[in-house]
Amino acid sequence: MGKTAIKIADLDVKDLIKDLNRAYCDEWLAYYSWWYMAKVVGGMGYEDMSEFLGKIAKEEEEHAGELADRIIELGGMPLSNPMELEKNANAPYPAPPKGASDYNAIIKTVMDGEAGAIDVYNKLAAKTFGKDHATYQLTCHILSEEIKHEEMFQNLLE
Ligand SMILES: [Fe+2]
Ligand SMILES: [Fe+2]
Repeated sequence: MGKTAIKIADLDVKDLIKDLNRAYCDEWLAYYSWWYMAKVVGGMGYEDMSEFLGKIAKEEEEHAGELADRIIELGGMPLSNPMELEKNANAPYPAPPKGASDYNAIIKTVMDGEAGAIDVYNKLAAKTFGKDHATYQLTCHILSEEIKHEEMFQNLLE
């Protein structure tokens, strides 16, 4: 990180990098699960469910990329070993349900994951507000997309 960037960040940058890395791990775990469910989902009208899952998976992958960029800007490194994602994440792997056409179980898995993500980014936004404008802005951007993901799946519940 450049010297001016360090000077203007009014918080513990090492601690912030740890928080961002935990969120980075969450994103890859969510990406893998949503992507996997998009591939294997079956049953009536599965194309729509697959499309929704694929869309949010792609956005989680973008979030991982945006977090990696910010971690590097702050002078850190994103986690390199995928075997260590789960133990460094905020939450366990949001494992896909056994039934590939159990829409209620799929929706619940996604909604639990998105609720966790909303909580993580809400806390990060509060922590960086007025202290690190660049991370705050990124956090709010990701938060708004996680809110949309939750809404999208909540709307599928009858
Ligand atoms: Fe995300
Ligand atoms: Fe999400």
